Amino acid sequence: MRIVFVADVFGPPGREAIESRLPGLREELGAALAVVNGENVADGRGITPRLADRLLASGADVVTLGNHTWARDGMGPYLDASDRVIRPANLASSAPGRPLAVVEAADGTMVAVCNLMGQLFLDVPVGPFEVLDRLVEEARSRAPVVLVDFHAEATSEKMAVARWLDGRVAAVIGTHTHVQTADARVQPGGTATISDAGMTGPHDSVIGVEADLAIRRMRTGIPVRFKPAKGGVRLEGVVLDCDPATGLATAIEPLKIDVG
Ligand SMILES: [Fe+2]
Repeated sequence: MRIVFVADVFGPPGREAIESRLPGLREELGAALAVVNGENVADGRGITPRLADRLLASGADVVTLGNHTWARDGMGPYLDASDRVIRPANLASSAPGRPLAVVEAADGTMVAVCNLMGQLFLDVPVGPFEVLDRLVEEARSRAPVVLVDFHAEATSEKMAVARWLDGRVAAVIGTHTHVQTADARVQPGGTATISDAGMTGPHDSVIGVEADLAIRRMRTGIPVRFKPAKGGVRLEGVVLDCDPATGLATAIEPLKIDVG
């Protein structure tokens, strides 16, 4: 079976790319399931209930999040009520929402999607390795195919998590840096991985933000209100082929599509 994973959707350009391209892309690729990281869809920072619903309506079966989960109002009650929009597992134990979604793909295969955050350069109360094994065991008990969105900054941490889970899940997909890495591979134990799936949004930018604004903040140290850039929009992510009989991957290919 084939899964399409769409990397961090950034601001209105990213959302428009999803709305115009994801339904057709699912069909062209023959993907039975689409997972979308949506944590930057609200002007580059966070997500709102309305935008989460729009991603789901555009063909996302599951929406994953990250460090900007709480940046916008209304997400606590929304996440508590949603079984398709998930947040990282290693937030505070009292945080609303859930880190695991179990959904039926178009071919009838049950797929579990988990979301976790790295601890290098990100502010998490609990390290990912503290919660990883239990989360994956629960996912495996509920679905033959398990996919992990590991939202993290450092390639070393992403590679360590991918290798630790090798043979236990179909894929560990890195997100958060917005720069697609050239290391998509199926590991020796059969788990596909990529350090970062990239960004769906305006690439004529500094990781999605209007370059002038990002540079001004870095040069002066003075807070600047960021705006999403507009140009060079690409849909990025990966296409994953996996075998429901083994729960392992057979192939992973990066996805990079010019949208305008
Ligand atoms: Fe992020």
